[in-house]
Amino acid sequence: MTEAQDKKNRILPRHVAVVMDGNGRWANKRHLPRAMGHKAGVNSTRKIVENCVKEKIAALTIFAFSSENWARPKAEVSALMSLFVSTITSEVKKLSKNNVRVQFIGDRKRFSEKLQSKINAAEESTKNNTGLHLYIAANYGGRWDVVNACRLLINDAQHDGRTAEDIDEALFDSYMSLSESPAPDLFIRTGGEQRISNFLIWQLAYSELYFVDVLWPDFSDKDFDEALSWYSGKQRRFGKTGQQVLEEQST
Ligand code: FPP
Repeated sequence: MTEAQDKKNRILPRHVAVVMDGNGRWANKRHLPRAMGHKAGVNSTRKIVENCVKEKIAALTIFAFSSENWARPKAEVSALMSLFVSTITSEVKKLSKNNVRVQFIGDRKRFSEKLQSKINAAEESTKNNTGLHLYIAANYGGRWDVVNACRLLINDAQHDGRTAEDIDEALFDSYMSLSESPAPDLFIRTGGEQRISNFLIWQLAYSELYFVDVLWPDFSDKDFDEALSWYSGKQRRFGKTGQQVLEEQST
């Protein structure tokens, strides 16, 4: 089979989740301030979004800022906040033109009024788009997500009369971030570390985990393509045997 045929026959993930790691090291290697690494990282973010649109992938979730990132040096946090404001401002129109729906996950209350209003405006202006669903995790933590779901569920239960026995995985999931999309099929982490780092701890239960050494600002179209091909070669068993999966596929 030719490479083009191979590509045509690949099984693509419906949802990709990415930890964009390595911006700081990319900048250090060039004797630049870490903030320059984040700025360079935005180009890779733009490219992966474009590639997901091109490949008609349903959802992409990117980890832009974790609940733990507040502990970084003040100057870096402040540079990241400014970068979020300027990136949202400059990219939203183009995203919307490409039918991308943007949604933020995480506790946005800690952000400045200005950033919160940019976030709200980006969500509002793209809410009717039907193409790629782009989730940006900002002040997000997987444990926060679980605790937040518990809070919302208990609040609702006080009004709708549900008891502990009514709670199952599907109901709980409906209170978690990303519940509108299928769970991520493919998780990508750049920068060489092999950790989840409190990203989507509930939603990644059955995801294929792909770790690559390349630093985020260097993550190219080819690198993403390789991750998609790697994913396509995986047999997803969800607890079943390989034989069962093959039998299901042939019927
Ligand atoms: C981790 O690299 C990266 C971040 C904490 C920030 C990522 C943010 C962007 C790429 C900007 C995206 C912008 C929007 C609006 C979505 P690191 O600094 O931990 O790298 P290191 O491990 O080399 O230090």
